[in-house]
Amino acid sequence: LFPARAADGGTPPLVVAHRGASGYAPENTLPAADRAAELGVDWVENDVQRTRDGELVVLHDDSLARTTDVEEVFPGRSPWKVRDFTAAEIARLDAGSWFGPAFAGTRVPTLEQFLRRLERHDQNLLLEIKNPRLYPGIEGETLQALDNEGWLDRAHLRNRLVVQSFSADSVRTVHELEPAVRTGFIGKPPVKDLPVYADFADRINSPHAALSSGYVAVAQSFRGPHGKPLKVLAWTVDDAAAARRAAGLGVDGIVSNKPDVVREAVGG
Ligand code: G3P
Ligand code: CA
Repeated sequence: LFPARAADGGTPPLVVAHRGASGYAPENTLPAADRAAELGVDWVENDVQRTRDGELVVLHDDSLARTTDVEEVFPGRSPWKVRDFTAAEIARLDAGSWFGPAFAGTRVPTLEQFLRRLERHDQNLLLEIKNPRLYPGIEGETLQALDNEGWLDRAHLRNRLVVQSFSADSVRTVHELEPAVRTGFIGKPPVKDLPVYADFADRINSPHAALSSGYVAVAQSFRGPHGKPLKVLAWTVDDAAAARRAAGLGVDGIVSNKPDVVREAVGG
């Protein structure tokens, strides 16, 4: 019903490991990047936020409670927001035990640590600026951190890095600060608004179930800020049937906690 484009002789969609291979290792940690590498997946998505003392760290929720032992280590600090803790405090937390005993002692990585691990694996990064309204100025700081680690050189800019956000303002800010960076908007803008988004975003990263083949084709008919057709990504796809449907719609990429399942289903 939904044949993969690869089966039709087209290019299979790019597969992105969501928060790392987070179906198999604790999300947004170095082991999740390692697991993606072991699976041969060369694109990794992560989420970046800022500590009280200005360190950029990789974590999804605005609170540390779900994915670390912060409630035990700092019982009086409810609601355990990332922005209320220093980097040194966060470095004491166990970000792996919640997922399984094999990951006990895993730490919340800094963005710098995460970039270095990806570089070691030759992996590419779909970086999400998470909750930017909580962190004024985080766009410039993120670009500076990327630059410090060599991620704004020509090779990374061309095809190894995309910076995305649910916040259109944040994506626009990234584009204005560093126009050479490829950018993505997370969500599904109405078709009538796509020309506006195409001014500052190269990619539209939509919930997969919301997409139709018509929407994908229309979005891909616009050119983004770098003169190339907008790319459409679909998240978060963890089973073969949904992966085949997304590929059949013609998406350019699929974001998955289980990238091996997606690749098995559609190639890529
Ligand atoms: O890449 C898109 C996806 O990561 C957005 O959802 O909640 O996992 O950050 P979330
Ligand atoms: Ca994300």
